[in-house]
Amino acid sequence: MVLLRYLGGLIRRLHRNWKVARNQNMSTNYYYDSTRTFVIPMAESFYAMRILEDDRLVNVGSGALPAGTILDFSAMERYDESEYAFDVQRWRLELPTYGDISYHDVALKVAFPEAPSSLTDGDAPHSPVRDLRLRYIGHDVVSSDTDEGQPWLAPEHGLPTKSSVARDVLVIRMKDIAYDLYVTLFYRITPEYGIIERWLEIENQTPFDVPVEALAFGTVHVPNGRYDLTRTAGAWAREFGTVTQPLETGKFILDHQGLNTGHPNNPFYLLNRRGEATEHAGEVFFGALAYSGNWSLRFEALATTAVRVHGGYETTDFELTLEPGETHCTPAFVHGVSGQGRGGASRQLHGFIRDYVLPNPPGGEFRPVLYNSWEATYFDLSTESQIALARKAAAIGVELYCVDDGWFGARRHDRAGLGDWTVSADVFPDGLTPLADEVRRLGMRFGLWVEPEMINPDSDLYRAHPDWVLHYPGRPRTEGRQQLILDFGRPEVVEHIFEVLDSLVRDNGITFFKWDMNRYASEPGSVSGQAIWRDHVAGVYSIMDQLRAKYPALDIQSCSGGGGRIDIGILGRVDQVWTSDNTDPIDRVFIEDGYSLAYPLRAMESWVTHEVNHQTGRRTSLDLRFDVAMRGALGIGTPLSKLSDDELEAYRRKIAFYKAIRPIVQGGDLYRLRIEPGVSIWQIVVDTASVYSEAFVEGSRLGIYNAPTRLVGLVATSTYAVTDEHNADLGQYSGSQLMALGLPASGPGGGMNASVRSRTLLVKKV
Ligand code: GLA
Repeated sequence: MVLLRYLGGLIRRLHRNWKVARNQNMSTNYYYDSTRTFVIPMAESFYAMRILEDDRLVNVGSGALPAGTILDFSAMERYDESEYAFDVQRWRLELPTYGDISYHDVALKVAFPEAPSSLTDGDAPHSPVRDLRLRYIGHDVVSSDTDEGQPWLAPEHGLPTKSSVARDVLVIRMKDIAYDLYVTLFYRITPEYGIIERWLEIENQTPFDVPVEALAFGTVHVPNGRYDLTRTAGAWAREFGTVTQPLETGKFILDHQGLNTGHPNNPFYLLNRRGEATEHAGEVFFGALAYSGNWSLRFEALATTAVRVHGGYETTDFELTLEPGETHCTPAFVHGVSGQGRGGASRQLHGFIRDYVLPNPPGGEFRPVLYNSWEATYFDLSTESQIALARKAAAIGVELYCVDDGWFGARRHDRAGLGDWTVSADVFPDGLTPLADEVRRLGMRFGLWVEPEMINPDSDLYRAHPDWVLHYPGRPRTEGRQQLILDFGRPEVVEHIFEVLDSLVRDNGITFFKWDMNRYASEPGSVSGQAIWRDHVAGVYSIMDQLRAKYPALDIQSCSGGGGRIDIGILGRVDQVWTSDNTDPIDRVFIEDGYSLAYPLRAMESWVTHEVNHQTGRRTSLDLRFDVAMRGALGIGTPLSKLSDDELEAYRRKIAFYKAIRPIVQGGDLYRLRIEPGVSIWQIVVDTASVYSEAFVEGSRLGIYNAPTRLVGLVATSTYAVTDEHNADLGQYSGSQLMALGLPASGPGGGMNASVRSRTLLVKKV
């Protein structure tokens, strides 16, 4: 085993060296030999590090710069380095490790179990040795050629992405001063979006097992100062509430100890020097983790005003021991900086995710309009009622029909059947084929809801394999929504789930899965021990990756009781996410604002549902429901069989309008023009056109004269035609007028009287 690992490491290194040799002429060097400085110049920002005299690697700085700024670090003065005193934080170690520093947070802590006798020289062992000091031993620049796929260049984002432009990866190799423990720092650079993906590879070439006790994927240092942190906080049905808070001196932690990303926090942040940035302007440092499991973002604001962010694994129940010859590669910490405020940071992340993270299946230029049966029929399914719904859906313009929960096993309610993924003969006596065939005949794609990681104790699978769930023998098994979690630490379980999903796709011509995950973890007892936190995520990723590799036309939507599994790691494997189970547009519009801080609209599934909302009991207009759902990937969840012909016609017209504006919504640049309590106004911009989306949803605005909402990104001297869903001509305006004064207010009394109103307009150059 050890020999195999050793050989594996050797082959990886040889392969890497070959790649380096092959790419040497292609890559920018990023390195100034005269000052031993690395500088990564990006479109409107930079990132710099330096190797000190004793080979420590320190962060020199990063920040936003005007486009075209020339960077020359070839004659930089000596880096300001303090001598050892009470505080050594001014070292700004690129990867803070535990050892000589032990009173600040670190990115990496290991314990060497024993000192080699050559080093102890008769001294008592003082083991374990918790002292890791990394020193620079070399670097390369290699090309991340997404077409070829390079398994060693983790983290992979699943499938080919929209852009296959090869990107440079700066690879910096470090080694402990005494032990053969190697740490390689990777920096994959996406200059046009000013984004660096950082990850680490730790390789144990010592003769003993090395426990890793803390492990971040990277540490980000921002320029010293007092900062405000913008992030989201939430819960089931109220995900992505935007919070901006001062980052006080001390430590602040965002995390989730789970097998999904979690509703309460989401692994991204925006940081700006207090008072120096807004939505529209100023320098904003941002970061996000490409990981869907036990994650943490630890913000350390020191009294010296040094601020650093450690992003990586949550370590409450963390265990990772590297055997001799073993390597661990972390997921990525994605980060960058914008000079265009929080809006600019969001646009950089959106562009990066659209072009380099989201899968790009054949024919997948735009996300289709989806119909989902959940709120229409819940568990009350039948071939006839679903065919009736599908016909109505096709007639109003739906392109993808998804049957939600209840089609399998004994799943007539949420207390039984999870785990038994065979079509229920009680519900569909002739299987799914008659429905699937009809859906396809109607010109739509066919999709199914699945919750592959879960099992109801009342299921055949559980009766056959009660040991296949996370548990501790002889202790209680806590249920959540009457379900337990399968133990993905068992390879046979992961294999079984792959086979089940594989045969569902094969037998039913499925081209869409809504992949759900409806509970948090408890009693995480697994045959793989504490590694289960990573093994579970790896199992989910590998099933998705295998399915997508085998079925290029298969799309996946990530759902976890709504928005519980949304992050850059899962977005490399799924095409869209279910942002929230809360489909009330008055709540959802703010969920969308928070989501949009980090994630692109293209991936944000949003449904139009009942007039009286099932989650909140609130009645809202069809206009508002569509205006809010049309901000992302549009879906319909209304029981269409209960609608009148006039209502269906209104749906048809609105869906046709959505299809006309879809290339802008799903591919354009988002400007959050106005976000205030009760107000959300967006403009989504492509070259010659914009979508203007406005929602006033809270309280009466009597007596408030609305400020003009100025548009952005137009050509001052061009003329723009403004139309609505009826294609009604709402006037022509010059670009300068729209950018100076905005659009005329909507609603009675110049928009003053109506407490709830919304509109979606197409603004197009004539
Ligand atoms: C979760 C999902 C819903 C629906 C139900 C089905 O709550 O978020 O959209 O699929 O499960 O049980």
